[in-house]
Amino acid sequence: MAERYGVIGFPVGHSLSPWIHERFFQKAGINGEYQKIAIDPKRFKQKIPQLLAGDISGFNVTVPYKEAIIPFLDKLDDDAAAIGAVNTVAKRDGMWVGYNTDGIGFVRSIVTAFPDVLDKLDKKVLILGAGGAARGIYAAILATGMPVIDIANRTKESAVKLAQMDTRMDRTSILSLQEACDNLDAYDVIIHTTSVGMEPNGDEELLSLEKLRENAIVSDIVYKPLKTKLLKQAERNGARIHQGHLMLLHQARYAFEIWTGLQVDVQGMDVELQAILEGR
Ligand code: ATR
Repeated sequence: MAERYGVIGFPVGHSLSPWIHERFFQKAGINGEYQKIAIDPKRFKQKIPQLLAGDISGFNVTVPYKEAIIPFLDKLDDDAAAIGAVNTVAKRDGMWVGYNTDGIGFVRSIVTAFPDVLDKLDKKVLILGAGGAARGIYAAILATGMPVIDIANRTKESAVKLAQMDTRMDRTSILSLQEACDNLDAYDVIIHTTSVGMEPNGDEELLSLEKLRENAIVSDIVYKPLKTKLLKQAERNGARIHQGHLMLLHQARYAFEIWTGLQVDVQGMDVELQAILEGR
């Protein structure tokens, strides 16, 4: 019988996870199936116990349930507990355990694209945004040991709260978006984590990259469009760019690893994913 996996959310119609995980099953030689499981918010409390009592082996969690799922689980791994959100659920010794693969997936994707990013711990990193997505990424970059990880956000209070994750309390300065704009040349890696610039608002950008340092790396977690206005400007200014679909791929790969113990080879899948996103 096929092993059952899936993604819960509302809506889940456009999720690319089924395509990604079906490819992983093929690559790993596993007889598995992966379904979209749309759960109406009105029925969430009844549906989750049914799902957990059924024959599902593991599942992903997307909007709007990344926090709401937590009370139904037996345990959280350290990352998910620190981030306060779960995107992957797996069964371990009969217990349902919540994980968050977003941050580690992000770090793995950027290291795969630019192996020099982590070769020396001398990079200055700027995170743009302080919402849910920024939380996972900030936690994972803190774990790399990078010495400077500043945060710029429209609302200062959210950035201050996020920076409390740094138990050393000496690696993060909080900037306004204007200050980030004016001091951009201080950073080697700039990571945009907000939804600004996402379709259908592709003409929006959070800030101008005029002061960007040549050869900096600019990453955008938005993958619709694949090349955001921010990334286009970064490229024009001579920066190296890192696109959002790469994080999507690597967070899924890490979830698959949690479920099966297998590290699938994703080489070439970024190009396939790109083609799907471009509707080719
Ligand atoms: P997610 O879970 O996708 O990260 P979120 O938790 O709602 O979503 O966080 C959204 C992030 O995008 C926040 O950093 C938010 O800034 P505020 O903290 O000031 O709200 C940022 N954001 C969203 N729309 C924005 C806009 N139009 N201009 C500037 N920042 C914006």
